[in-house]
Amino acid sequence: MFLYNAWYVAAWSKDIGSAPLGRTLLNEPVVLYRTADGAVAALEDRCCHRGMPLSCGAVFGNNIRCEYHGMVFDPAGGCVEIPGQAIIPRSARVRSFPVTECDDLVWIWMGEPSLADPAKIPRYPWHKMWPYKSKTERIECNYLLLSDNLLDQTHGAYVHKSTLASNVDAYERAEMTINSTPDGVKFIRWMLNCVPPSIYHRAVPFKGRVDRWGEFEYVAPSCIMQFTGARDIGEGAYENDARDGGFGLRIFYGITPETEHTSWFMWSTANSYRQDDPQATQELFEEIEHAFKEDEDVLVAQYAMLRRLGDRPLINIASDGARVQARRALERKIAEERGIPREDVVTLV
Ligand code: FES
Ligand SMILES: [Fe+2]
Repeated sequence: MFLYNAWYVAAWSKDIGSAPLGRTLLNEPVVLYRTADGAVAALEDRCCHRGMPLSCGAVFGNNIRCEYHGMVFDPAGGCVEIPGQAIIPRSARVRSFPVTECDDLVWIWMGEPSLADPAKIPRYPWHKMWPYKSKTERIECNYLLLSDNLLDQTHGAYVHKSTLASNVDAYERAEMTINSTPDGVKFIRWMLNCVPPSIYHRAVPFKGRVDRWGEFEYVAPSCIMQFTGARDIGEGAYENDARDGGFGLRIFYGITPETEHTSWFMWSTANSYRQDDPQATQELFEEIEHAFKEDEDVLVAQYAMLRRLGDRPLINIASDGARVQARRALERKIAEERGIPREDVVTLV
């Protein structure tokens, strides 16, 4: 069950040009393209004549032409030309989706168009303020496993032994503060007096042990914003909220279902340190990319097992607090959209 009346990340702005891009979102084939006016258009990727994908077509000015029999559609989905035919029937149209571009991202609304309010898009000014690099990945698991993974950071000690991990006991003593929000959940997690992860240490020199934080905001259904960092102990990161300096990393995540079983994982890494050094931004990106591959291996194996034995019960443990709140927020929204009790909402196998 997906939430339809919501903004999802469809793509990075830089990936939408005058060549059409076909992308399945929430099981729906969509074609995205940039018009001559510079706007992004999103249409059903299925010509209303004989079903040819419009993503195999070509953009002319603000319109897109199906390269099978040549029908031309405008950004609102209306047919504006049928070769060799003077009269265009009213049924000659494809669905169009509301899209908005902000913070270098293309957001799409897959539900009732009249409800699409761009003011509800989570804003992310850091793409304009810090140097960053981004990536789009297609992951073979339900999209909720990706947010589950990010909202339970205790996996770091095991999954990311060689990349992001500190000493295991620092995870066990981590302090966690969780707050629910109208659209999801926020939490901050402090690991005090711990060994800096190798990624951090390679990025900035630390004197010894550090105080390390991970701050996450989940906005249902699709978005997570992370601010992670560390400073040398004694510099007041924890005591005085003095979190400038040292190592700082912000990650944006747009997590959009492709189907029930596959997901688009669009993320960026931005660095607070050595901001005039492109090498620092590149190295951080590569390190995080490597860590996400570690997550992907886990999620693909986990999802294959859940599909096989999804009817058997699972348990929650203490570290599931934020994950459970996030899931509840999403279920609440789906229940409201469908007019059903929250208990009847099934979000995952
Ligand atoms: S299938 Fe598109 S014009 Fe015929
Ligand atoms: Fe991870």
